[in-house]
Amino acid sequence: MHFEFGSIPVQIPQFKIRNSKFIFHLLGAGSFPLCGAYHAPYSSFMPASSVTIIYASTSGHTEYVVERLVALLQERAPQISVRVLRAESAGPEDLTSADVLVLGSGTWHMFGQEGQLNERMHRLLFDRCTGVDLSRTPVALISLGDDRYHFTARCTEHFMRFLKDHGGKTFLLPLIIVNEPYGQEERIVKWGEKFMEKMV
Ligand SMILES: Cc1cc2nc3c(=O)[nH]c(=O)nc-3n(C[C@H](O)[C@H](O)[C@H](O)COP(=O)(O)O)c2cc1C
Repeated sequence: MHFEFGSIPVQIPQFKIRNSKFIFHLLGAGSFPLCGAYHAPYSSFMPASSVTIIYASTSGHTEYVVERLVALLQERAPQISVRVLRAESAGPEDLTSADVLVLGSGTWHMFGQEGQLNERMHRLLFDRCTGVDLSRTPVALISLGDDRYHFTARCTEHFMRFLKDHGGKTFLLPLIIVNEPYGQEERIVKWGEKFMEKMV
């Protein structure tokens, strides 16, 4: 067990990605766009002994969500190894080193535009990981945003674009946290439970 917050053993004896082809709708008020993504089916069970969570967080919101998720996994699934890395410390090999990858980021202003990934996540994915093949690594996404911004939680689209370009597929709907995560712990738990369900 090896990660920045401490050792996190999580029990996930098998990993099953259910056949799925679905269009997800990113929730959001007002101008938030619908985002469609097809997910090619994973047809077999895969033993999952490890999860890598890579996140970027500037004001600590995404970090808080990741910490809540890790605490849940530690409590409910204590046999699998969970490794947590900040995006600025991660490299291409970290995206595929575990059985399952979780990416987390808030939505930020970058290059003169709102609705972008946190710059540290952007640099990791679009500068340092240009050659990554994610076709064998199921992915889950955590996106944060704020409804005071026009492109609320739009970072999800950039994640999906990266996955599409690298053969990656998500195995459940993204966890989208709009506004401060404090007080939204129940949503994190419910998503975490679905995350674990997919692995049994
Ligand atoms: C300068 C700045 C730009 C932001 N731009 C957006 C945006 O375009 N869309 C959005 O949904 N949220 C935006 N946010 C809100 C953040 O995504 C939100 O606060 C998030 O929880 C931050 O997560 P973090 O602390 O983990 O980085 C912005 C916040 C700041 C301070």
